Amino acid sequence: MTHSHPTKVKRGLWSSRLGFIMASAGSAIGLGNIWKFPYITGMHGGGAFVLFFIFCIVTVGIPLMIAEMIIGRHTRKDPVGAFKGLHGGAWVLTGWLGVIAGFMILSYYCVVAGWAVDYLWLSFRGTFTQQHSGQVPEIFSNLLSNDLSQLFWQAVFMLMTVIIVIGGVKSGLERANKIMMPILFLILLVLAGLGLNSPGGAQAVRFLFSPDWSKLDPPAMLEALGHAFFSLSLGMGAMLTYGSYADEETSIPKVAITVSLMDTLVALLSGLAIFPIVFTYGMEPAAGPGLVFKTLPVLFSRMPGGTIIATLFFLLLVFAALTSSISLLEVVVAYYCDENRWGRKKATLVMGAIIFLIGVPSALSNNMLKDVHIIGARNFLDSIDLACTNYILPLGGLLIALFSGWVMTQGIAKGELLKGDTNAYIYPAWHFLIKYVAPVLVALVFLNKAGFF
Ligand code: PHE
Repeated sequence: MTHSHPTKVKRGLWSSRLGFIMASAGSAIGLGNIWKFPYITGMHGGGAFVLFFIFCIVTVGIPLMIAEMIIGRHTRKDPVGAFKGLHGGAWVLTGWLGVIAGFMILSYYCVVAGWAVDYLWLSFRGTFTQQHSGQVPEIFSNLLSNDLSQLFWQAVFMLMTVIIVIGGVKSGLERANKIMMPILFLILLVLAGLGLNSPGGAQAVRFLFSPDWSKLDPPAMLEALGHAFFSLSLGMGAMLTYGSYADEETSIPKVAITVSLMDTLVALLSGLAIFPIVFTYGMEPAAGPGLVFKTLPVLFSRMPGGTIIATLFFLLLVFAALTSSISLLEVVVAYYCDENRWGRKKATLVMGAIIFLIGVPSALSNNMLKDVHIIGARNFLDSIDLACTNYILPLGGLLIALFSGWVMTQGIAKGELLKGDTNAYIYPAWHFLIKYVAPVLVALVFLNKAGFF
């Protein structure tokens, strides 16, 4: 199905509703689901954290994704231009915050994705199957202690991102998504199935789903809320930008609900793949950012056909990361193209290079700069990740929720929301959630963390 509708500004459109869903799901599903969700779940004690995370997705995440997409589609602009066009004044800062968040997140995202590219290369060479499984986790420490190879893979990943973004909306962003996402889903399903049937399977399920509410302290709540934003690509205008390429017939609530469901499912599946290994081999659930890299390869090293499965898995992980990183870069590029009238190619190349440089301290943060602690005992990479996910994204999300619930003309919101085959009762439900529930929840979690209760 191809729609070719005139838009207010001449810019690309997704070629179909499926293309829009796949691209948005591609943005949402990434390292956040497979690298970050399991490790923060491990650090915050499992079940209660997971359930609160799902609660945040439903009450804040989905309404906010709808809000971003309708603002994008209505204005057909980058985040800064969108707020300028709709209201102007201080609200434009919300768009700016998004562009800055795009810079910051992409800078370290490329480093972690670089680890995945390195693991793809290692899997392809059969490294995991040649090792005794007890030695597999050491491979990760070796990588972290090698600054040059981290910089190298970070550069490789940034280059891939830049090449796709130069290609533009349809040819670049969309085509790739449609093929790889379903394969990723399948392989995760297989890994989770293997996990559930392993000796640690039952304990993993208990860990992930039976809540011990005493573990849900204020930092855990903020982490879960922040991760809902990070995982769904919210609070910084990525979904706003993708919405700006959506055609007029698509039902935005349907897209947002589908994408959020897929994203949550992938996170849970990767938890179900990783934690059985943790418990079967007596590893530490709170091992931190290396968790996925230390656990799954142990499984690959033991299973028949491990080299092939490992290669396929890391290929897909790199791919999932790419479909997210392109959406991060796209926010920045859309801003320079729309607001500063730069060409797409120039904007992509220049910003890609600058963001790479900003990411260098993150790449060095585990070795050369390992004694530089920014927030608490956290190194540079973990600190910038914490700043973005726990503060900048929820703040951006809070502003977008307040804007769309209290400031934006409700006629516009209602009109956009009900386009396509959207059930009419969705509008009042969305309006209630975005106007009251989402801002209050974000504010409560912030105040809770600040020690007010
Ligand atoms: N959602 C992506 C992930 O889970 C990361 C991301 C955050 C992408 C914000 C775009 C915007 O990996």
